[in-house]
Amino acid sequence: MRRVCPFDPPPRYAELREQAPVTRVSIPGGRIAWLVTGHANVRAVLTDPHVSSDRTHPGFPLVMPGFERNLKGSILTMDPPEHNRYRRMLAPEFTVRRVQGMRSRVQEIVDSQIEQLLAGPRPADLVQALSLPVPSLVICELLGVPYSERAFFHARTAQIFHKSTTAERRAAAMREIREFLHRLVSDKVDDPGEDLLSRLVVKYQEAGLFDHEAMSAMALTLLVAGHETTANMISLGVVALLENPDQLAELCEEPSLMAGAVEELLRYFTIVDQATSRVATQDIEVDGVLIRAGEGIIAAASSANRDPRVFEDPDRLDIHRSARGHLAFGYGVHQCLGQNLARMELDIVYTTLFRRVPGLRLAVPFDELPFKHDANVHGLHSLPVTW
Ligand code: HEM
Repeated sequence: MRRVCPFDPPPRYAELREQAPVTRVSIPGGRIAWLVTGHANVRAVLTDPHVSSDRTHPGFPLVMPGFERNLKGSILTMDPPEHNRYRRMLAPEFTVRRVQGMRSRVQEIVDSQIEQLLAGPRPADLVQALSLPVPSLVICELLGVPYSERAFFHARTAQIFHKSTTAERRAAAMREIREFLHRLVSDKVDDPGEDLLSRLVVKYQEAGLFDHEAMSAMALTLLVAGHETTANMISLGVVALLENPDQLAELCEEPSLMAGAVEELLRYFTIVDQATSRVATQDIEVDGVLIRAGEGIIAAASSANRDPRVFEDPDRLDIHRSARGHLAFGYGVHQCLGQNLARMELDIVYTTLFRRVPGLRLAVPFDELPFKHDANVHGLHSLPVTW
C-alpha cells in the first residue's frame, strides 16, 4: 500500500481500521499475512506470548529477506527466555541517566556538523550534512570506535544507507562493516575501554554467553537499529516543522516545548511500520479473528498511531498534544532500547538547527522532495535546503 501524502500512512489503513481491523493481505513474494491496524489490537499482538520475532521461522512475514537475514543472532529476532537474558545486559546502557551522560558529546557532534553546513555551499543536502552523520557519529561514540577509524566507519554506513549506492557496493560495505565490528570486538576483548561494547564484552563473559559472532551481531544491531531510523526522523521532522511555521515559531520562542514536539513527530511519522511484524507460534485470537500457528502478522504501528480512538484528530500535527502512548518505538518486550537516546538526539538536532540557522528553508518546492515512498523505513533520500 502506497502513501498518497508523504506525511500520512497509506489511506487504506484508515478504512481497514474501521471495516476490517484484522485482515489478510498479500506481501512481497506472493505470500499472505495478517495486517492489524488499530491501536488496541497492535498492542495486543505485541504483548501476546504466543507470537515470535524469529526471522528464520518459515511463516515470518519478511519484507526485505536479503537484509533481514543479516539480523541473525540479533536481539531483535530473539524470543523469551533467550531474549530476556540479552535484554537485561543491554538495558542498563540505555537508561535516561546513562543517555543524559552523553548529552554534551551529542551536542558537540551536532554543533560541529552545523558549523560544517554553514561553512559549505548553498543549497545543501541536509541528509548528507546532518541527518546521516549525527546518528553515525553517536553510535561511534557509544560503541567506542576509535577516532582514527570513524571516517572509515561513517563512510561505510553512509554507503549502506544511501540510495545511489549500487547493490554490489552496498553488499561490500556491509561486509566491510561486519569485518570492522568483528575487529572492534577483538580490540575490546584485548583492551577494554569506557564504552558500551567493552562493558558488554565483560557482561557476556561473566554470563558465559560471550562468543565473537554474537557480540558482533549485537554491535551491528545497534548500528542498524539506531542509524537509519534516527536519520530519517531528523529529515522528516525538519520538513514537518518548516511546513508548520506557526508551530516552529512557538518552538523557537519556547524551547521547553521541544520534548513534546519530538514525541508528537515520532507519533505522526511512525517511520518503521514493519519492524513490528511477528509470526504466531500457537493459534491466537485478535479482535475475534483466529490467527493460526505459523501465520505471519504485520502489526502496523503507523496506523495504530493514527487511531482516533486514542489520538483526537490524529492526522493533525500538534506539538501541544500529549502523544504519550504512541507505538513508534514498538510495544512489549522488544520496545526500542535506544528510545531515550533517539529522543535526545532529535531534541538536540531540531533545537540547535533552528537556533543556529534561523532562515532555514526548502531549496525546492515541497512536491519535488524525494520522499522514500519505496522504502521500509520512511524518510527522505535527500533534503535540499538553503538559508
Ligand atoms: C527515531 C529513532 C528510532 C525508532 C523510530 C526506533 C524504532 C524501534 C522499534 C519500532 C523497535 C521495536 C522492534 C520490534 O518490535 O521488533 C526498536 C527496537 C530496537 N531499537 Fe530502536 N528505534 C530508534 C532508534 C534507536 C536507537 C538510537 C538505538 C540504539 C542505538 C535503537 C536500538 C534498538 C534496539 C537494540 C532494539 C531491539 C530491542 C529488542 O529487541 O529488545 N533504536 N526500535
